[in-house]
Amino acid sequence: MTTHPANADSILADLAEGLPIGRVPATLYGNRELYEREKLNVFARCWVFLAHESEIPANGDYVLRKMGEDYFVVVRDEDGQVNVLFDACVHRGVQVCRADSGNTSHFRCPYHGWTYDTKGNLVGAPLWRNAFGGLDKGSNGLRAAAKVDSYQGLIFATLDPSAPTLKEYLGGMAWYIDLVFGLNDAGVEVIGAPQRFVIAANWKSGADNFSGDDYHLGTLHRSVWEIGAYPIPFAANMMGYHIQASPGHSLSFSMAPTEDEPGPKFFAFPERLTETFAPREGRLSAHQLDVARRARVFVGNVFPNFSILALPIIEDGADPTGVLTIRTWQPIDEGHFEVWNWFCGYKNMTSEEKAHSYRSGLATFSMGGSFEMDDTEPWITVARNGRSTAADVLGLSLNYQMGMPGIGIAHPVQDWPGPGIAYWTRYEEGVQRNMYRFYLDMMRAEPGHWPDLDFAPELIPGSESYGIDRLESLR
Ligand code: FES
Ligand code: FE
Repeated sequence: MTTHPANADSILADLAEGLPIGRVPATLYGNRELYEREKLNVFARCWVFLAHESEIPANGDYVLRKMGEDYFVVVRDEDGQVNVLFDACVHRGVQVCRADSGNTSHFRCPYHGWTYDTKGNLVGAPLWRNAFGGLDKGSNGLRAAAKVDSYQGLIFATLDPSAPTLKEYLGGMAWYIDLVFGLNDAGVEVIGAPQRFVIAANWKSGADNFSGDDYHLGTLHRSVWEIGAYPIPFAANMMGYHIQASPGHSLSFSMAPTEDEPGPKFFAFPERLTETFAPREGRLSAHQLDVARRARVFVGNVFPNFSILALPIIEDGADPTGVLTIRTWQPIDEGHFEVWNWFCGYKNMTSEEKAHSYRSGLATFSMGGSFEMDDTEPWITVARNGRSTAADVLGLSLNYQMGMPGIGIAHPVQDWPGPGIAYWTRYEEGVQRNMYRFYLDMMRAEPGHWPDLDFAPELIPGSESYGIDRLESLR
C-alpha cells in the first residue's frame, strides 16, 4: 500500500518490490527517517573502515575517526594493539581527544581532568582521594568498539558484538582487496593526511557510484578525455568485468581482453615497482596476479561506505602513472556527507614516484580534481530530488536495469577466476543492485541477527556457491 509521506518502512517495502526488476525508489536518497535507521542498522552494525595501519605505525599514535556520525579514537597502545575508543568521557560525556592525530600515552578530559590510557582504562583524575577514593576505576574506562580487526593494513571496527568476523564480512571482497593491497611484501602506505570536504548529497550516491558506475564516464567526465588526462579510450574502458564479490560489496575492472593487449598494466604503476609484484604462497595466487596485471582500473565499494580506486592518470602530458585512492563517504545527515580521501602508494616506490602519483591524484580525485568536481554536482540533485514531495507522490522509481536479462550486452561469465558473480563488459548495474540487496537485508535485520553472507543460490550463474569456503579454495 502506498504511504504518503513516504516513511522508512514504505521505502524499504518499495525497494524490496523493486530490486528484482531493477527499480530503486528515489526517496532512498533523501528520507530523514530512513537515514535515522541507517545510523542504527548500518553504521552501528556493519564493519566500518577507520584508518590505514601506516597512519598509526608507532605505539601511542592515534587518529580521530568516525563511525556514522560519532567520533572514535583509533589508537595503537603500548603493546602495539589497535584500540577503537568512543570519544566520550565517562564522567560527563565530554569529547576527550581534541586533535585529528598525534602521539600520546594518555588522553586527559578537558572538563575535570579524568585521564585514560591508550587502552581506554581510567588511570586517574585530579584530587582523586577526595573526589573518588573508593571508586572502581575498572568500570569507568572509555567505551570501545565491539570488534576491531584489519585486513591488508585496512583497519575496520564494528559496534555490534553479534557481527561476523571481518573476514566473513568481507567474504569474496578480500580476494579483490589483495589485488591492490597485497601485490608485494612491502605493502601500501598512505601519502599524507586524508583530505576532507562536504557535499550536499546522500552518502549512498558515493557508494553507488564506486560500486561500478562506469557508464557515466563518457558523459559526465568527457572533458577529462578532452584534456588528455586519461589514457584509455571510452569504448575500451568499458571492456572489463563487473563483480558482485559478496553480498553488499561490489567492484568493477576495466581490463585488457588479453594479456598482450597494449595499454597500461597494473593500473600504470611504474614498471620498476611492478617487477616486485609476485605470487606468494598463501597470500597472493598466480590468478590474482594475472587479474591485477591486466587491470587498468579497479573501482569498488566495501559496504557501507569504504571505496577503493586504482587507475592510470596522465598529468601534464607525462606518461600515465597509477593513482590509488581510498575514501569513505561519511554521513552527516540524509542530505550531506563528508568525503575523507586518502592517497596511497606502495612503500617501495621512490619519493619521486610517490610525488608523481600524488600529484596525478590531486589533479583528478580531490576536492579540486577534474573527476571529483564532475561527480559531486549530479549527486547534489539526486539528494534534492530524493527528498522532494514530487518523488514521493509520483512514486519515482529509479532505473537500475542495465545488464539484466535481455537488456544490453553484459552477460554473466563462468570462467572468472575469482569469487563472486562476474559479468563481462561494464554496461551493467547488478553491482549496485547487490549493494542495495544487502542494504535492504541490514535495514530489516532484527538486533542480534545477521543476514546470510553467502549469495542466494538463485543469484549465482550455474547455481554454484561462491561463499567463504570457495574463497579459501581459490587462495
Ligand atoms: Fe570528563 Fe568530567 S567530563 S572529567
Ligand atoms: Fe565519476
